[in-house]
Amino acid sequence: MKLLENIAQLATCRAEGGQGEIHAIADAGLVWQGDAIRWVGPRRALPAEYAGAERHDAGGGLVIPGLVDCHTHLAFGGWRADEFEQRIRGRSYLEIAAEGGGIARTVRLTREASEAELAARAAEFLREMLSLGVTTVECKSGYGLDREHELRLLRAYRTLARAQPVRLVPTFLGAHVVPPEFRADRAGYLSLLVDELIPTVARERLAGFCDVFVERSAFTLDEARRVLRAGQAAGLGAKLHADQLSAGGGAELAAELGAVSADHLECASDAGVAAMAGAGVVAVSLPIASLYLGQTPFAARRWIDAGVPVAVATDFNPGSAPSCHLPFALTLACTLQRMTPAEALKGATIIGARAVGLEQRIGSLEPGKAADFAVLDAPDVNHWLYHLRANACRSTVIAGGTAWATEGFSLQH
Ligand code: NIG
Ligand code: FE
Repeated sequence: MKLLENIAQLATCRAEGGQGEIHAIADAGLVWQGDAIRWVGPRRALPAEYAGAERHDAGGGLVIPGLVDCHTHLAFGGWRADEFEQRIRGRSYLEIAAEGGGIARTVRLTREASEAELAARAAEFLREMLSLGVTTVECKSGYGLDREHELRLLRAYRTLARAQPVRLVPTFLGAHVVPPEFRADRAGYLSLLVDELIPTVARERLAGFCDVFVERSAFTLDEARRVLRAGQAAGLGAKLHADQLSAGGGAELAAELGAVSADHLECASDAGVAAMAGAGVVAVSLPIASLYLGQTPFAARRWIDAGVPVAVATDFNPGSAPSCHLPFALTLACTLQRMTPAEALKGATIIGARAVGLEQRIGSLEPGKAADFAVLDAPDVNHWLYHLRANACRSTVIAGGTAWATEGFSLQH
């Protein structure tokens, strides 16, 4: 049994209440045993049965549930820094893509990498994320786009899930774009996805979700419906890249299919907002991508006021979002999307957990849930996201064990 004390503020982030209700406790204590939380509350109210627990000192800091990054493209080959410069000079993301850059370029570089190289590189990113307080990461395929290379990405994730502490939730994104070799045969690519890849991914349990990029440069609504229905029939939950660069009815389709989330949504229609509210679909906002593409940000007030739960994630990828710094995304959610720090935190904990179907196990600090939490060098949530630092995290605990800690921090021993 372990007791964390000297906590200035503990944000429990329980699901009930609105987006901004993080159920914060001042001068808190947290008790866990093995991989599960036993008790949280004001330190002075510690039940006598826990008085003998092994004590750990949070240094007067902030304790939050382990952060959930519910949208990443974690494994890929190469980078695209030259496209970053071209966009600054005025070329658009779609122009660059039309000339063979963008996603297609990362696909070429990813196919050249071995499974071990992809896994080693993703492991480096996961270490960085862990050091920032991130304990769960959704990770998409989508840069392989043929049988061999899509399965290679998902197998790299499976290897990583066993080799390092961060919890991984793999998503099959074979429908990212139509790969060059199928440009004249879209129907052929769709049957490869629906008749071959989805059944294999489901049978080998390589992913829990299926995602489709719905966009003029990627897949139509009808194609997305077909792929996601095939995924659902095989047991894969539905996710969508929707209404990112243009309004395409993606939010409405997410509601129609009962998707677990629809992501991006900068251009979603009013009807899409209402449909998602009615169907209980999580809206995943990705402020780093909006920032890098110079887009009008996700209008968080519109969604929150309509009753849609809003998650915040990085969208980490080599094109539109080349950063896996989730606390940075949260500060951007505050400044660009006008979310309060509490709303942003809830979006990267319990609501992010819901966007990957894990809200019963992770995402809040409550008895019975996983002992996944981060100890931050900040007095409260407002201060943490206001004073942007390279890293305010002092220690990250996953399943009750210290997975990362700054040197000398008391939780390390
Ligand atoms: O989520 N929107 C599509 N996919 C990615 C971009 C991927 C890339 O540019 O490589 C995204 O922004
Ligand atoms: Fe994405």
